[in-house]
Amino acid sequence: MATVLAIETSCDETAAAVVKKRHILSNVVSSQILTHQPFGGVVPEVASRQHVETINATVAAAVAQSGLSWAEIDGIASTCAPGLMGSLLVGLTTAKTLAMLYDKPFLGVHHLEGHIYASYLERPDLEPPFLCLLVSGGHTSLIVVKDCGIYEIVGQTRDDAVGEAFDKVARLMGLGYPGGPAIDRAAQAGNPLAFPLPEGNISLPEGGYHPYDTSFSGLKTAVLRLIESLEAKSIPLPVADLAASFQHTIAKSLTRRTVRCALNYGLQTVAIGGGVAANSGLRSHLSAAAQVQGLQVIFPKLALCTDNAAMVACAAAAHLQLGHRSSLGLGAQSRLAISDVMALYKQDKITLPLALSA
Ligand code: KG4
Ligand code: ZN
Repeated sequence: MATVLAIETSCDETAAAVVKKRHILSNVVSSQILTHQPFGGVVPEVASRQHVETINATVAAAVAQSGLSWAEIDGIASTCAPGLMGSLLVGLTTAKTLAMLYDKPFLGVHHLEGHIYASYLERPDLEPPFLCLLVSGGHTSLIVVKDCGIYEIVGQTRDDAVGEAFDKVARLMGLGYPGGPAIDRAAQAGNPLAFPLPEGNISLPEGGYHPYDTSFSGLKTAVLRLIESLEAKSIPLPVADLAASFQHTIAKSLTRRTVRCALNYGLQTVAIGGGVAANSGLRSHLSAAAQVQGLQVIFPKLALCTDNAAMVACAAAAHLQLGHRSSLGLGAQSRLAISDVMALYKQDKITLPLALSA
C-alpha cells in the first residue's frame, strides 16, 4: 500500500500531507487568506513569497504528525499543474529536492485530479466509473472518471468558474474575500426566491440548450445591474436575499446539469470536488435531487473540499501503485487539461543524473 508525502502550493494555501493509499496520516494547511484579504484577492507574487517562508515548517509538521520515518514513505509528490507559476514552483522544487535527498520516486500531480481524489479519502471503498462535479475558484467541470488518470470532460463553464463568480459577486456586494464562504453565510438569513436570476443556459445553433455546459458571466452581470438599479433608487442592498438568490440560482444550475449527466451516462455515483463543494446551498439542493433519482452523492468534508495536500497525496499514491513516476525534469504548468494528466508520467526514462550528464 503506497504511502506518499505530498505538497500543494498551486494557489494560496501552503499544504503538506502524508497519506497511506486512501487514509490520511497527517494533513497540514498553512492558509494565506489573511495575507491576501486586504487586496480583495490572491496576489501571485505575495503568494509565492509566503510559500517560500512556510514550506519547510509545513512539510516538517506533516512528516512529524504522520508518525512515520522517511524510510516508511514510498514516494514524494507535488501539484505541478495547473496554478500560479511562482506558487507551483515552490512546492515542486521542494518535493523534487526531498525525492533526491531521500532517494524516493517523485510524482507530479494535476491539481484537479487531487480534487477528484478527495472523494476517495472520504469513501475509501469508492471505485470508478463515477461522475465528478468539479467546482473551484478556477474550474467548473463535469468529468467522467473512468480510472486513475483517465478522465473525460463532458461539461464545463464557457466563461467564469463558479468560485470566481462567487468571489466577484461577493466583491460587488461588499462582502470581502474569499467570497464563497461570505455569500454562503449571508444567504442563511435570506429568501432564495427573492430575485429571479439567469441560470446561464448555453444556446445551441441547432436550437435548444447545451445539456451540461453553462455560463456564469451573465449571472454576475445580472447581479451587478440589480445592485445598480437598487442604488439608483437609494434602496439599501438586501444582502441576505441577494446572496440567497444568487446561491440558489447556482445550486439549481449545477444540480440540473449534474443529475442529467449522471443519468444520461448511466453513472450511479456523483462525487463533488473543489472549494465550492463546501457551499451549503449546493449541498442541500444536489443531495435532494440525487435522492429523488436514486443517485449516490459524495461530498468530502469541508477541509478536503478546499485546497489541501491530502487529496494530492491520495492521487499520487494511486499513480505510484500503478507504477507511474514523473521525471525530476518535470516543470510547472499554469494550464493543463485534466484529460492530459498521463503526460505527467510519460517521461520517467529521463532522470536528473542523465539530464545533467547530457
Ligand atoms: O478549490 P479551491 O480551494 O481553490 C481552487 O482550486 O480554486 O476553491 C476556492 C474557491 C473560492 O472561489 C471560494 O470562494 C470558493 O472556493 N468557496 C466557496 C465556499 N467555500 C469556498 N464557494 C461557495 N460557498 C462556500 N462555502
Ligand atoms: Zn483547488
